[in-house]
Amino acid sequence: MAGRIILIIGGGIAAYKALELIRLLRKRDVAVECVLTDSATHFVTPLSVQALSGAPVHTTLLSLAEDSQMDHIALSRSADLLVVCPATANLMARMANGLADDLATTLLLATDTPVLIAPAMNVRMWKHPATQENYRRLRERGCDFVGPEDGEMACGEFGPGRLSAPETIVEAIESALSPHKPLTGRHVLITAGPTHEPIDPVRFIANHSSGKQGYAIAEACAALGAQVTLVSGPTALPCPKGVTLVPVLTASDMMAACEKALPADCVICAAAVGDWRVAQSSEQKRKKQPGETVSLALVENPDILATLSRPGPHRASLVIGFAAETESLEQHAKAKLARKGCDWLLANDVGGESAVFGGDRNRILFLNGETVETWPDMPKAEVASLLATRLAAHFSSTSR
Ligand code: C5P
Repeated sequence: MAGRIILIIGGGIAAYKALELIRLLRKRDVAVECVLTDSATHFVTPLSVQALSGAPVHTTLLSLAEDSQMDHIALSRSADLLVVCPATANLMARMANGLADDLATTLLLATDTPVLIAPAMNVRMWKHPATQENYRRLRERGCDFVGPEDGEMACGEFGPGRLSAPETIVEAIESALSPHKPLTGRHVLITAGPTHEPIDPVRFIANHSSGKQGYAIAEACAALGAQVTLVSGPTALPCPKGVTLVPVLTASDMMAACEKALPADCVICAAAVGDWRVAQSSEQKRKKQPGETVSLALVENPDILATLSRPGPHRASLVIGFAAETESLEQHAKAKLARKGCDWLLANDVGGESAVFGGDRNRILFLNGETVETWPDMPKAEVASLLATRLAAHFSSTSR
C-alpha cells in the first residue's frame, strides 16, 4: 500500500496508540504527516511523533507557517486521506459543527479529501445523544468511521468507545486508499440532456431537459470505477470527473455518437431526445413575412433507446431507459419498457407541480421487467448512486 495521509491526533488517553499506527503505516510505505491538537500534546510528544513519522509535526497554525513551506489549505489537500485518530467526543463535535478553532479542525474544514475517523472515548460520552447526533451527521457528510469497539476502557468502564486496534485502523486506511470499485472494467454509455433540432441557423426546437440526472448518473458510475462515455446534448453542466464527454446537438448526431461509442456493457438513455426534426431546415435564416402563418413539416427522429435495445452483436448486456410521463405513470412505463425492448426503466412524473425538469430532486418508479419499485423523493445525485449500485449488483451476479 502506498499513499500519503495526514494523521490528526486528538487529545485522549488512546493517543499513545497513534504512535503504533504511525509505525505500522510507515512499514507499509505510507507517508504520514501528523497534526496534534493542543490537548494531544499532553498525551504524546511532538518529538516522538516526528521521530516515528519522519516528517514535520504540526500543532498550531502558527507553527505550520513557521516550519513548513505549505499553508493550511495546501496541507489539507496534499494527502490522499485525512485520518482522525483518536477522535475524541470534543473533536467530533467540533467537526460536526464546522468549527475551525485550531489547526486540526481548520484542516478538516478546508479539505476536499476523504476523511476516516477512529473515535475513542468513554462509553457514556459515546452513547450520549449529542455524540450520536454528531456521528450521524459526520457519516451523512461522507466521513468514514472505523470503530469504536466494545471493550474495557482506560477509565475502567466497559462498552463501546474503545479505539479500534491499530491493525484494524490500518486495514480501514488500506481500503480507503484503494477502495473496491465494482464497475471497474465496465464501459457505461450514457445519453443526457436535450437535443436541438434546427429550424434554420439561428432557431431550433428543444425541450426543458437540464441534463442533471444523466450527468449525475455518469458521475456515480465513474465513481464506482466504470469507464463512462457521456453523449450529451447542450447543457450548462460541467463534465463530471473521470467521464468522457461527447457533445452533440441533434438526435441524429446523438444516435451516431452512441453507435460509435459501442460496444458497452451498459447503455443508459437519460436524454430527452427530440421526437421530431424539421424535415427541411433552411440553410439561411428564414425571413418573417408580415401576416404569414408558418407551418413546419416534422419527420421522426431515430429512437436511440429502441435502436440500442435491439438484439445484435453489439447489444449491451444491460440497456436502461427513462420515461418522463405526465399521467398513468406505471401503466405507461410498463408499456414503454415492452415497446422499447430495454431491460430496466426509470419512470418519473414530470407533470403538474413536480419540478423534475431543471430541479435537483427526482421521484422514480423503477421497473426491471419483474418488479416495480417506488423510490422515495430524493436528490438526483442519490437516484444516480442508487442506480449505479444496482448496476454493480447486476454485473456482480452475471458472469462477464
Ligand atoms: O418515447 P419516449 O421519448 O417517451 O422514451 C423515453 C426514453 O427513450 C428515454 O430513455 C429517452 O432517452 C429515450 N429516447 C431515445 N431516443 C428517442 C426518444 C427517446 O433514446 N428518439
